[in-house]
Amino acid sequence: MRYKFLESFQLPNGVIVKNRIVLPPMTLRSSYATGDVTDAEVDFYRLRSGGPGMVIVEMAYVSKLGKSYVGQIGADSDDKIDGLKKIADVIKAQGALPILQLSFGGRIAQQEAVLDGQLVAPSQVPDHHAGMPIPRALTSDEIAQGVLDFGLATQRAIAAGFAGVEIHGANMYLIQQFFSPHANQRQDQWGGSLERRMAYGLAVLDEIIATRDQYGSPSFIVGYRQSPEEPTTPGIRFPEAVQMAEVIAQRPIDYFHLSLKSASQSPFMAKEDKEPLFEKYLSVLGAVPLVVAGLIRTPAQVEALVQAGIAGAAIGRELIIEPNWVQKVMAGDELGLRYALSPLDFDLLKIPKPLRQWLLTRFKNGLVMTTDAGFDPQMPWH
Ligand SMILES: Cc1cc2nc3c(=O)[nH]c(=O)nc-3n(C[C@H](O)[C@H](O)[C@H](O)COP(=O)(O)O)c2cc1C
Repeated sequence: MRYKFLESFQLPNGVIVKNRIVLPPMTLRSSYATGDVTDAEVDFYRLRSGGPGMVIVEMAYVSKLGKSYVGQIGADSDDKIDGLKKIADVIKAQGALPILQLSFGGRIAQQEAVLDGQLVAPSQVPDHHAGMPIPRALTSDEIAQGVLDFGLATQRAIAAGFAGVEIHGANMYLIQQFFSPHANQRQDQWGGSLERRMAYGLAVLDEIIATRDQYGSPSFIVGYRQSPEEPTTPGIRFPEAVQMAEVIAQRPIDYFHLSLKSASQSPFMAKEDKEPLFEKYLSVLGAVPLVVAGLIRTPAQVEALVQAGIAGAAIGRELIIEPNWVQKVMAGDELGLRYALSPLDFDLLKIPKPLRQWLLTRFKNGLVMTTDAGFDPQMPWH
């Protein structure tokens, strides 16, 4: 069987992606305390870059204020460039396009990861999950600096040899917090109406595009990741998120990336609506390619999504478990695909120790872990 998803496709900036499989960003929490890259991270990416067309490297913080996790990768200072280059180099050497995800944590950051344990956010509103601390509202100057920091981090990604960057506007981090009527109670230019809640994400995007124009080549890829819904009231609902996607798609970006629990799901906050969320996005994105993530594991699933118009299928936990997924499918060896993970294979699979711990506490089912449980983009998971 010759799958369409194994064929190459072209991004709006002309870059050819060799197939439609994407490794989505997955935080390994394995950097040094300084945010510098470790060998364990390099090994993880080397093993998983021989198949997918694009490899999106886990969220890197753009400033100390924006750090989210202990062990998170930093892109906040020029001395990080050499380490970042090690990751970009191994991904390129294996034949994939390396993309660096850039992020700012905000009110769901781990307290141990931020200075004095003080979380920051658009407003002084804690995340709705039990026990989440009350953040401090960012000042106007800090917001403006944050936007500039995304541009500076992009310069570092360019210097490190990445093929592009992805803006982390999903999974409840700061950019989503600005868009959220729950997290954002501001009454200045950054909050209130839909336009104003969009303003921060768009400012970050425009800064990154301007940085590409000044310091990068036109082939430098810019992507935007978003989550379409929040479980709170008030909270983000998909019609507004889709409107924002439409505005984003009018900018010169190269792909849009949806973070979902299940790639083909319909809205969980509008249960009567049975249309898959990705279809709602396809209808506004025009020529901008759509990447979706969420519980994708089998070739049949990927093919169905691609036949439905998806440009890229992001396979997260399954590529942790099966680094040779693409190679096996290309070789017609689908029976050899591994769908469960035994802790006995942690070393073999180059799974860094902090991720092992996370996998063990998360799945709690003894020796064999499967990827059946969805990754919930609405749950802070530290
Ligand atoms: C260990 C782990 C770390 C993750 N880290 C990130 C991250 O850094 N940035 C991000 O946007 N999403 C992150 N995610 C979400 C994934 O990118 C993906 O959307 C999610 O795992 C669903 O895909 P899957 O069901 O194929 O695993 C992470 C998920 C996991 C399991």
